[in-house]
Amino acid sequence: MENSAVQKKKILSGIKPSGDLTLGSYLGAIKNWVELSDEYDCFYMMADMHAITVRQTPADLRRRTLSQLAQYIACGLDPKKNTMFIQSHVSAHAELSWVLNCYTMFGELSRMTQFKDKSAKNATNINAGLFTYPVLMASDILVYQADLVPVGEDQKQHVELTRDIANRFNGVYGDTFTIPEPFIPKTGARIMSLQEPQNKMSKSEQDNGGCVCLLDKPEAIMKAFKRAVTDSDTCVRFDTKNKPGISNLMQIYSVITNKSFEQIENEFASRGYGDFKTAVGEAVVELLRPVREQTEKLIADKAYLESVYKEGAERAAYVANKTLRKVYKRVGFVAK
Ligand code: TRP
Repeated sequence: MENSAVQKKKILSGIKPSGDLTLGSYLGAIKNWVELSDEYDCFYMMADMHAITVRQTPADLRRRTLSQLAQYIACGLDPKKNTMFIQSHVSAHAELSWVLNCYTMFGELSRMTQFKDKSAKNATNINAGLFTYPVLMASDILVYQADLVPVGEDQKQHVELTRDIANRFNGVYGDTFTIPEPFIPKTGARIMSLQEPQNKMSKSEQDNGGCVCLLDKPEAIMKAFKRAVTDSDTCVRFDTKNKPGISNLMQIYSVITNKSFEQIENEFASRGYGDFKTAVGEAVVELLRPVREQTEKLIADKAYLESVYKEGAERAAYVANKTLRKVYKRVGFVAK
């Protein structure tokens, strides 16, 4: 962490606890985070403040926030090596967000594709938080002076905006913020929906079988894989354009077993899709079994979880408040 001889580069990322974590979040994000722990100074948050841009049931939000933290740990993120915290526990995010709102243009926010998509989906609740969501995200990143931000493709535009805001602020007041870069890990897998393999696997598909959640029971996982959409061909072959369903299953199988696409093609050369789906399902069941069991243990240990998020928030706030003080001074607020 901070006291290492050579300052490590900082990483910040987060996931909204607005739904359960999916196999996509695990293979596409969290699994890679685990590998970054030694090389970087990492901050991972439960983005509960972002979650409320869409209406949440309070008890569910609270339960999912804690469960998400337990799942992070169960996936192998060590709280001793990574700073894990709940976004709303570090008030500097909201405070910096106000300041940065004044350096972000209405036009810029209007162009964000996620805002356009979400307003179309939530036509009855297009609130100001949904609109300024990217400014809070910029604050999450800039308040830690993060160098790298591991995100999926869909969040790259927000990181670009973060860079624009930081450059604008630095241009007016002198170097204040580190300019962050999106970080798409080399081994990062982009896991698609099992029902609509042209779209990313999303936690909003819990009802139609398109996603598998980390805490799903083996029977549910097997069912989802057996029902996975494929194609009318019979050959297990990697071709994202013409065979998105099979390619997605191969992708999943490949990250779990470390087998190349070619090896998988050979393994299933004379076997049907049914066999292949069963094999992928079983691999996922075995991958997630220890994660689910460990999560259940952690959730039962409230005192431990509390110690993790309290310590995390303390460490995070220390770094965040330094940036906030600097920003307040630069814009001309009187020191307390
Ligand atoms: N907006 C991100 C998502 O929906 C979550 C998020 C919030 C985030 N703040 C962040 C991701 C800061 C990276 C950095 O996936």
